[in-house]
Amino acid sequence: MSMDFDSPSLFDLERLLEETFVRRIDYHRELDSTNSRGLELARNTEIDLPLLILAERQTAGRGRGSHRWWSADGALTFSIVLDGLKLQLTPESWPKVALAAGLAVGRSMQHFAPQAQVGLKWPNDVYLDGRKACGLLVEVPSSRDGLFVVGIGINVNNSLAGAPPELQRSATSLVDVADTQHDLTDVLARVVSHLDQELTELMAPDHELPRRWKERCLLEGRSVHLTIGSSKAVGVCRGIDADGALLLETDAGVKRYLSGTVTWFGASG
Ligand code: BTN
Repeated sequence: MSMDFDSPSLFDLERLLEETFVRRIDYHRELDSTNSRGLELARNTEIDLPLLILAERQTAGRGRGSHRWWSADGALTFSIVLDGLKLQLTPESWPKVALAAGLAVGRSMQHFAPQAQVGLKWPNDVYLDGRKACGLLVEVPSSRDGLFVVGIGINVNNSLAGAPPELQRSATSLVDVADTQHDLTDVLARVVSHLDQELTELMAPDHELPRRWKERCLLEGRSVHLTIGSSKAVGVCRGIDADGALLLETDAGVKRYLSGTVTWFGASG
């Protein structure tokens, strides 16, 4: 475990090491981005994995593409560096890793907010009652083969009442939907344990994750605008395939997309 300050941590780090598959924790009161730190630490070939990089506050959290990730006190911002070779993960597995991580977050959120509707917005967001509560950013360090950095930002005790107005319309947090504050170590330990389980499941032959990510698919039956590099696709979502591809029914039939960004989706039904 490494820390960059002496005062007591907001988290019970010993407990995280005891209860989860994490072998080492890199803990910061303030950090630009836990994913950037993960990419940097991944250069060290001696590092113990899985490595958890945890920041009480992120000053330059990154989202997909050029997006920034807004967070405030009470949010969880962390990344886990994993040995993808051990997990038999290739870059083509990205959607599956993001979906497995999304399922882990979704299960955890359902535990802390049992009444809420938990949905996965392909490929990397978790929604609570129709608003985004978690974003995932999966990256592969160029410095070393086979590693994955899975970055997760979850709005836990940070009410969106304090967020910029455009976010208030589209995002939410656990405290906003369940009206209860949660111990951040409890939430983090649960998410990391579920992540371990879902990744283990992902390696098993005939695993049942596709059934679960299809069940949780927020986009199914909705009109969707998808951007893939410089091209665009428009269609009605027909769910998520077993390999993690988004299925879109377009004018030219049902197409599969293993990557892309959903830029707009319509109301359900
Ligand atoms: C997205 O919604 O586009 C993904 C957001 C991912 C945010 C998390 S917060 C922890 C980790 N560190 C980062 O800089 N980003 C991810």
